[in-house]
This record gives sequence, C-alpha cells and structure tokens, in this order.
Amino acid sequence: MTVKLEKIEEFACLTLDRQDALNALSFFVLDEIGQALDEVAAMQGVRALFITGAGNKAFCAGADIKELRNRSLVQQRRGAELGQAVFAKLDRLPVASLALVNGYAFGGGLEFALAATFRLCTTNAVFGLPEVKLGLIPGYGGTQRLPRLIGEARALEMIMTGRSVKADEAQQIGLVHRVIEHENLLEAGKTFARGFTGYSLPVLEFARRAVQRGMDLPIEQGLQLEAELSTLAYRTKDAEEGMQAFEEKRKSEFQDE
Ligand code: CAA
Repeated sequence: MTVKLEKIEEFACLTLDRQDALNALSFFVLDEIGQALDEVAAMQGVRALFITGAGNKAFCAGADIKELRNRSLVQQRRGAELGQAVFAKLDRLPVASLALVNGYAFGGGLEFALAATFRLCTTNAVFGLPEVKLGLIPGYGGTQRLPRLIGEARALEMIMTGRSVKADEAQQIGLVHRVIEHENLLEAGKTFARGFTGYSLPVLEFARRAVQRGMDLPIEQGLQLEAELSTLAYRTKDAEEGMQAFEEKRKSEFQDE
C-alpha cells in the first residue's frame, strides 16, 4: 500500500507513503489515490479531506520519472489522462479538501495540491513545476490550475524557468493559505477546516461549485450558475433553519439537508 486512508475525528486523511521515492506518483500510486478518493466520496460523517505525504521531507516529488522513460506516445497520453482524471476526482469531491504540504511539492505533487480546495504547508515546503528541466511540461493539470490560482505571469515564470518557490513566497503569492511548523500541521489543518465544516455540507458544495466551475466560464454564464446554485441553497432545509435561527437570535443547527 502506498496510499493510506484513515478517519481522524470528522475528517478523512489520505497519506502518500512511498518515502524511498519522496512519495512520487507511479501509475500504481495514482490508481490507489483514485480508489481512495472513491472511498472518501462514499464515507459517512466526513466533513473534509486532508491529503499529505508521509515523513517530513516530501509531500510528493511528482510523477515517477523512472516510469516515464521509454513509453509509447499512446502510453504517455493515457498516463496524462489518468493523472488528470484522478485529480479531477479530488477537485469534484462532495467535500472540500486541504493539501497539507509537508516538504517538496514538485511536478505532479504540486499539481495534486493544486487540485485540492485549500493548501497549508510546513516551513520547509518547496513548490515547483520543474518539468522543463526534464524536457517536459506539466501534464497533470499544472498549466491550467496554477495560472487560475496565482495569475498567468507568475505561473508562466514558474513553468518556463522551473524556478521553485519556498513556503514564505508561496504564501505571499497566494499558493498557500498558511505556513506552519511541521509538528503542528495536522492540528492547523483541523483548525482551518473547522472554519467552514460546521456549516451545511450541501450549501458548502454549492458555494465551491459556483466559484470553481464559474472560473471556467464567461462571466454571464458564471452569474447564471450562481443564480441557479444560490436558488438551490435557498431551497435547503438548512437555509430555512439558518434564517429562522437568525430571527430567534440563536445558533443554527444545520442537518446537511
Ligand atoms: N520520481 C522517481 N523517483 C524520485 C523522484 C521522482 N519524481 N523524485 C525523487 N525520487 C527518488 C530519487 O531518485 C531518490 O531515489 P534513490 O535513492 O533510489 O536514488 C530518492 O527519491 C531521494 O531523492 P533525492 O536523492 O534526489 O533527494 P534530494 O533531497 O537530493 O532531492 C528533490 C530532492 C530536489 C525533490 C529531487 O529528488 C528532485 O529533483 N526530484 C525530481 C522532481 C521532479 O523533477 N519532479 C517532476 C517530475 S515530472 C512530472 O511530475 C510530470 C507531470 O506533470 C505529472
């Protein structure tokens, strides 16, 4: 097993555990991540997902470079599609996800973190898309998700120069939300997640969908999507409860309905 999935309180936690290769993404690891994400989608009582890497050196050093050699174009294309499909599962999970980046996040490793809803990292974290140094370009979503997150100019610099970014700079450019000492990373993840997990899960999903899918649309269509999803939110029992609790000056008791 190179992917460990466990329940920690109200959270699911997926850990990449292949430390001898800095948690690199072999095709086997990618398959295991895909299966684990299917399990998370079916889990009861989970309010958010954490993804992290075992050890204190690497979150994930990217695609397994040794596996990338001597592949046919068809195999290579299928490999890119597999990585993209697995990360799309993370992006579209019914609950939000937090990448807890505990060291190097290079290539496919950064692309994995980019597909999560939020990112927190340790002080020793380093982020990069160094594919150009291998004569390659990112293939698991980096060319699309990174510019959406940090802007085209900064993303182009990282992708075209292969320059890596340390934790403080990553926070400054909006790549991560918080920088944390390694021993406090999981607790910080819980605290960050509990900033939203007490709200209605379906309503949170509508909010995520409006923002994230809206980013892929022209603004008129994005606004239409917002009108539809905000109407759906309005129709939930939780919206009724939230507005009633406001009137009665008490705390809402959401039922995720
Ligand atoms: N694939 C396979 N093995 C890897 C790996 C990777 N991406 N990254 C590290 N490893 C292996 C090393 O080969 C080494 O194994 P051995 O002990 O058997 O030699 C072990 O992990 C430890 O690595 P290092 O000795 O290199 O550790 P370091 O501390 O000196 O350097 C590092 C760390 C800077 C992250 C360096 O390992 C490195 O540059 N790794 C490659 C990063 C990279 O280029 N990633 C992009 C991959 S391509 C990609 O991801 C395409 C895509 O878009 C999907």
